[in-house]
Amino acid sequence: MNSTSLRLEPVTAENFDAVCAVRVHPRQEHLVSPVVKSLAEAYVHGAAAWPRAVVDGEEVVGFVMAFFDVVWNPAVDPSDVRSGLWRLNVAAGRQGKGYGRFAVQAVSEELRRRGVGRLHVTWEPGEGTPEPFYLGLGFRLTGETSGGQTVGVLDLG
Ligand SMILES: CC(C)(COP(=O)(O)OP(=O)(O)OC[C@H]1O[C@@H](n2cnc3c(N)ncnc32)[C@H](O)[C@@H]1OP(=O)(O)O)[C@@H](O)C(=O)NCCC(=O)NCCS
Repeated sequence: MNSTSLRLEPVTAENFDAVCAVRVHPRQEHLVSPVVKSLAEAYVHGAAAWPRAVVDGEEVVGFVMAFFDVVWNPAVDPSDVRSGLWRLNVAAGRQGKGYGRFAVQAVSEELRRRGVGRLHVTWEPGEGTPEPFYLGLGFRLTGETSGGQTVGVLDLG
């Protein structure tokens, strides 16, 4: 990892193929949607979605997508508006090098910039779960589940 050249970039016509080529390990495919599906969702959801390439030097090493100002569960509480991490995919051969941590920190900065104080995320429990990754970054469990996934939150201070 080259910390001086590590950055998030918008997904453009130029980097589209490289971003779509980001694939997690086959054994992790149940944990996160393929990048191309996330980009399609970003197209459909407009301003609520913030898709970004994780780029190190000239190489796209991952993909992250934040969500902004989403009513979490309209039937339960229409005033419960949340923002956070929607997707995070670090390429199989690039995991364990700090890219995931960087992506979470970069999304945290973007949320702070927008005046948001808490970052929500959901993750798949069970085999291969990224739960230790998120707990290690300071997330805590909210005690909720969403569509069978565990809900975590990080206070941005
Ligand atoms: C989870 C994921 C995003 C982590 O990205 P990464 O770049 O490998 O993680 P980092 O290198 O930044 O790791 C940061 C820390 O978390 C730890 N960590 C990362 N993944 C972990 C895991 N699955 N279990 C336990 N610890 C983990 C690292 O060891 C590191 O710890 P350290 O600070 O003590 O060195 C990546 O493994 C991935 O894309 N997984 C498949 C898809 C997925 O589950 N995405 C999340 C959807 S909610």
